[in-house]
Amino acid sequence: MIGHRGASGYRPEHTLEAYQLAIDMGADFIEPDLVSTRDGVLVARHESEISRTTDVARRPEFAHLHTTKVIAGATVSGWFTEDFTLAELRTLRAVERLPQLRPANTAFDGLFQVPTLAEIVDLAQRRGVGIYPETKHPTYFAGIGLPLEEPLVATLEASGLRHRTSPVFIQSFEPSSLRKLAEMTDVRLVQLLSVTGRPHGSESTGDRRSYAEMAAPLGLREIAGYADGIGPAKELIVPRGEDGGPMTPTSLVLDAHGAGLVVHPYTFRRENGFLPLHLSAGNPTAPMYAQATGDLLAELRLFLELGVDGVFTDNPDVAVATRTRMLASRPLNGCARAG
Ligand code: G3P
Ligand code: CA
Repeated sequence: MIGHRGASGYRPEHTLEAYQLAIDMGADFIEPDLVSTRDGVLVARHESEISRTTDVARRPEFAHLHTTKVIAGATVSGWFTEDFTLAELRTLRAVERLPQLRPANTAFDGLFQVPTLAEIVDLAQRRGVGIYPETKHPTYFAGIGLPLEEPLVATLEASGLRHRTSPVFIQSFEPSSLRKLAEMTDVRLVQLLSVTGRPHGSESTGDRRSYAEMAAPLGLREIAGYADGIGPAKELIVPRGEDGGPMTPTSLVLDAHGAGLVVHPYTFRRENGFLPLHLSAGNPTAPMYAQATGDLLAELRLFLELGVDGVFTDNPDVAVATRTRMLASRPLNGCARAG
């Protein structure tokens, strides 16, 4: 059970408080997305542009840092972690990314700082859980002289996290980042797979494969050459029809297991707005329908029954409860018959 950006269904994402809550709820791993500051410190943000997840837009002292950049093919305007020193970034405060969908979380706006990777590793080790960091736009960061892999491996190693058995998975959408990491560390690596498109950063290696090609049996065998698992979008396992309903599951879980890869799909969230239609609850014409809680437990049960090895979830409490229920309903060896 991987606390996605912490317990981000209940607290502003990527804050120590969100990670702490995920651990309190029983998460086995906590997930920071990693970007760099100007002085080369890794911090947890989903993207380096921070206007949606911090109060930077209301801070006149940083108005001069507003700019426009092209990152991984997309033009983005705002404020970027790579233009802030860690000391400057620490003066900002986190805000809820999805205030319309998660209005209760805005009660925590303005309270929490942007955490460093080192702080998150320290928290995970003190609380006895694993860490599941993602390199975000690693080719872009390498191109501006702030590569992510070196400080990531150095921070993990400083905490003794260097072995295949260490409670760590490093994930990335970009195979070039994972291939580089495979040369640098023995900790386990996970290739993220999106529903559409192709990874950035592989052009220089001549690799033009799409995510769909990577998810096919041949592509999975190739991934097994440098990684230990895949993190697919959940729709790659249970596609949705045009009406939002579930279609027949694909063979991805079986194919990946056949290639020796673990499977950790993303992202399981309880709000109707993220659930397939048949698991949503309430009156679709009601104004609060998208925020209302649907049957995440049923969605998780389906994926666990399909054999996934873990899940990224914004609601670790629901995921842990689902696992507990499924384990409790499983007959113990011989006990069902004997009893
Ligand atoms: O890392 C799993 C999942 O988080 C990947 O998508 O964009 O939410 O980081 P994203
Ligand atoms: Ca992520």
